[in-house]
Amino acid sequence: MKVLIATEKPFAKAAVDGIREIVEKAGYELCLLEKYTDVQQLYDAVADVDALIVRSDKVTAEVIDAAKNLKIVVRAGAGFDNLNLEACTANNIVAMNTPGQNSNAVAELAIGMMIYMARNTFKPGTGAELKGKRVGIQAYGNVGRLVAQKAKALGMEVWAFDPFVPKDKMEAEGVTVPATLEELYSNCNYISLHIPANDQTKKSIGKNLVGRMPKGGCVINTARKEVINEEELAQLMTEREDLKYCTDIAPVEMGLFENFEKRFFATPKKQGAETAEANINAGLAAARQIVNFFVNGDKKFQVNK
Ligand code: 3PG
Repeated sequence: MKVLIATEKPFAKAAVDGIREIVEKAGYELCLLEKYTDVQQLYDAVADVDALIVRSDKVTAEVIDAAKNLKIVVRAGAGFDNLNLEACTANNIVAMNTPGQNSNAVAELAIGMMIYMARNTFKPGTGAELKGKRVGIQAYGNVGRLVAQKAKALGMEVWAFDPFVPKDKMEAEGVTVPATLEELYSNCNYISLHIPANDQTKKSIGKNLVGRMPKGGCVINTARKEVINEEELAQLMTEREDLKYCTDIAPVEMGLFENFEKRFFATPKKQGAETAEANINAGLAAARQIVNFFVNGDKKFQVNK
């Protein structure tokens, strides 16, 4: 049985070592394709593997087609918008993610980004504190919930909106739940995005929502660039010189935001899950899920049901 780790953005060495240990202990062979620059390298590498571990690497219909022996693909991370689920299902391939495994790293980055923006991207000038400010968390999943806990510890007031999480559960955790998403934006100094990129959410964050934010409002995006309506947001930031946007995923149209100086920041390469701890948690979980699938038929984290 061959297991391939295909990561354009490699895992920390400790994570690869841990994955190797799990895979080899099960009697399987581990193959490694890191920092590939051409998709053909990925097509070649998947040709004879039974299992595949990826990060944000795109597992397209072409990749699936090139992987004639593939039975399982695990996205070591939360968002699985990089997997072509239809192609997996059509080829009897189980697709999984590793929910919760890298959430703390992303939540810490979201808080760090709030501080960075509150302090004028560390450029000279008087900044502000987070204490006493209100943060609105859009989607109260694994990451959103951790952001809520950390924000509370900093003395922030936490609001959250998530149509998929019962209101009482959020309220029991000390979070204020507005009736609508619009109300979340109207009332919060910071908005922290934790929604997946899908047909419902793509380009959903634009003028109608961000335009409602109070003076000095700041949007923190550690989710996906696709959820932002970039043209509308850039236009709004031109009209309202108080608004700020900080993103862990460089915008598709970087040029739109280039003149906003202290009001805009994008990491050069996605940093959210880039900690040794997150790499180890997500990587080892992926390896364990693959072994459990082959040994026990365990499909607990399957996302293409
Ligand atoms: C996720 O969905 O888990 C994060 O976006 C992490 O992505 P990465 O593995 O490419 O860093």
